[in-house]
Amino acid sequence: MVKVNQNYLKLPGSYLFSEVARRIAAHSAAHPEAKIIKLSIGDVTRPLVPAVVEAMHKAVDEQGTYAGFHGYGPEQGYPFLREAIAQFDYQKRGVDIQPQEIFISDGAKSDCGNIGDIFDVDNVVAVCDPVYPVYVDTNAMAGRAGDFMPELGRWSRLVYMPCVESNGFMPEPPKEKVDIIYLCFPNNPTGSMATREQLKMWVDYANKNGSIILYDSAYEAFISDPDIPHTIFEIEGARTCAIEFRSFSKTAGFTGTRCAYTVVPMELERDGAKLNTMWNRRQTTKFNGVPYIVQRGAEAVYTPEGRRQIMESIAYYQNNAKVIREGLTAAGLECFGGVNAPYIWIKTPNGMPSWDFFDLVLAKANVATTPGVGFGPSGEGFARLTAFGDAEATKEAVERVKAIL
Ligand code: MLT
Repeated sequence: MVKVNQNYLKLPGSYLFSEVARRIAAHSAAHPEAKIIKLSIGDVTRPLVPAVVEAMHKAVDEQGTYAGFHGYGPEQGYPFLREAIAQFDYQKRGVDIQPQEIFISDGAKSDCGNIGDIFDVDNVVAVCDPVYPVYVDTNAMAGRAGDFMPELGRWSRLVYMPCVESNGFMPEPPKEKVDIIYLCFPNNPTGSMATREQLKMWVDYANKNGSIILYDSAYEAFISDPDIPHTIFEIEGARTCAIEFRSFSKTAGFTGTRCAYTVVPMELERDGAKLNTMWNRRQTTKFNGVPYIVQRGAEAVYTPEGRRQIMESIAYYQNNAKVIREGLTAAGLECFGGVNAPYIWIKTPNGMPSWDFFDLVLAKANVATTPGVGFGPSGEGFARLTAFGDAEATKEAVERVKAIL
C-alpha cells in the first residue's frame, strides 16, 4: 500500500488565497447581482506593456520558422535575459552580480517553495509573523515545520518573528540560533520596508551564525524612497549568506505570463557545498526552463521603452495605494504600508477579528480583502488590501468601505 507524504496531512485547511476565493465565490453565488471589487489577492490588472507584447509577437514568429525555432532552452534561462538582469537590476546599481548567478524561473512563489530541496530537513527555520504563507506551508510539506498547533495558529518547529505595530512591523533577530531566515521586503503583507541598517543587522547575524537568508524581493519595483536598498546584495557581506528571489509578476504584469529569477552567489557555501551548484543541479533535473517567448518578453522590460512603460504601470498602482491609504485613514482606520509597497495593512475597527471584518466588508460593501490572521497569528485584527486593482474600482471600493464604517 502506498504511503502518502504525512506532512501534507498536517496542513490546516486550504491555502489562504484559496479560502478567500471560496468565500468570494459563495457570496457571489448567493448574490449574483453584487458587483464585487477584489482588493484581496495581489494580482495585477493592467495589461502587458506594448514593448513586451511586441517582443513576444516577434518571438512567436521566430518560433514558426526553421531558422528561428527554439526547442528546449537552457534550464537556467537564456543568456540574453540573464545578462540583461545582471546589468540593469544589479551592476547599474553598483552591485556585482554575474549572469551565471541568476536562474530564470516561472515564479518567485515556485522558487521560494522549491529552494527547500537543497536544505536538510533538520534546519531551524525562522519566519516573520505575519508572513506570505508559501514559506510556512512549503516548509511544512517538507517536514521542517513540526506539527501545527491550531490553538496557537503556529507550527511547533518554526521560529516566529512577530512584526507588529510596536516594532514598526520589522522582525527582530531571534534569541536562539536559526538556520534559514525568510525575509520579504517590501513586505507582504504589512507593506513595511527595511532600511540599509536593518538589512545589515540581518546579514551580520546570518554570517555570524552560518544561517542563510532567503530574501524575497518580488515587490522591489514599488520602492519609492531613494535611501532604501533595492536588493540585499547592496549590503556588504550578503554574498556569503543570502539568496534573492525576484519576479516580473508585479514589476511588469507577468502574473499570468510567468517569469521570475533567483540569485545564488558563487561564494555561497554551506557544509563545503556551493549552493549555486546545488540549485543548478536541482533546476536542471526538475525544471525545463521558461518558454523562449516569455523570456524575450521579459528581456523587453529592460529596453528604454519597456522601462518607461512599466514605470507608468507602477505609478498607476502606487496611486491606488495612496487612494486606499488616504481614503481609509480619513474614514478613521489606521493604515500602514502602501508607500514603498503595493499592500496596505489596516487595523480593523475596534479590534474586530480579521475574518469577521473580511465577511462584513464582503457582505455589506461587496469588497474583498485578505484577512490579516491568514498570514499568521500576529496578523489578527488586521486586513490587507492590494493596490493592484483598476483605479476607478479602487476608488469605488474605498468609498463603499467608508460608507459602512
Ligand atoms: C499575494 O496576494 O500575496 C500574492 O499575490 C500571492 C502571490 O504572489 O503568490
